[in-house]
Amino acid sequence: MIGIFDSGIGGLTVAKAIMNSLPSYDIVYMGDTARTPYGTKSAATIAEYSLQVSDFLFNIGAKIIVIACNTASSAAYTQVCENFGVPVFEPIEPAVDLALKNSRKKQIGVIGTRATVKSGVYEKMIMKKNGRSRIHSAACPLLVPIVEEGWLNRPETTMIIKKYLHPLKTRQIDSLILGCTHFPILKKIIQRKMGKRVYLVDSSLAIAEKIKSFLEDHPDVDEQISKTGSTRFMVSDLTDRFEQSARTILKRRILLEHADL
Ligand code: DGL
Repeated sequence: MIGIFDSGIGGLTVAKAIMNSLPSYDIVYMGDTARTPYGTKSAATIAEYSLQVSDFLFNIGAKIIVIACNTASSAAYTQVCENFGVPVFEPIEPAVDLALKNSRKKQIGVIGTRATVKSGVYEKMIMKKNGRSRIHSAACPLLVPIVEEGWLNRPETTMIIKKYLHPLKTRQIDSLILGCTHFPILKKIIQRKMGKRVYLVDSSLAIAEKIKSFLEDHPDVDEQISKTGSTRFMVSDLTDRFEQSARTILKRRILLEHADL
């Protein structure tokens, strides 16, 4: 099966895209809800948690690991690749490719958690691919608990987004990377605040496409992945709130299982 993880609910945006593009592939989603958010923690702690969740997925049979979390990818991508010997996918490179493709002026905005922004992972990747780019980043830590709480249509949410985006609005960016898998859930409000001319980069579809084409090119990996269409959603702390929010994102009822890491 394909193992997918995030600190909480945000990675479901990636799981949804993978389920749509590879409907027969078995997937297990693990949300580390007992320890969310990751984005306010140190890189060492985020790496430790990410390795534990990857280890959990690997031990229950993941043949591919998808880090559906920018924060975990920024702190632990290399370590996850080195430790488990299975293909590992992450959201940062697909987002950068999409941003560069859709940005005419190469004035690119990045919003993410504090840990992702502090790591500079987006700046490094963008500059590696196009040295003439200008990058403007902003940490938006409050948006993670807002999404986890399901405060999607509250006036307070709109006000907080407006405040976070203000510095980016003055920078004439033409594409904005939603550098946290929780943020596509707030895409409509972000788009309204940034204006129609700014292209919003949500890497979930691009990750799913990348996995699909990887599997077409690597039949040896593909044949190891079970394909009964089974989907399991696990969390390290089971709450009613998560169940409700997960249903809103996936637009279907799901059975949540508790798993100890
Ligand atoms: N969804 C995660 C990301 O993409 C992080 C949220 C968090 O735990 O802070 O960065």
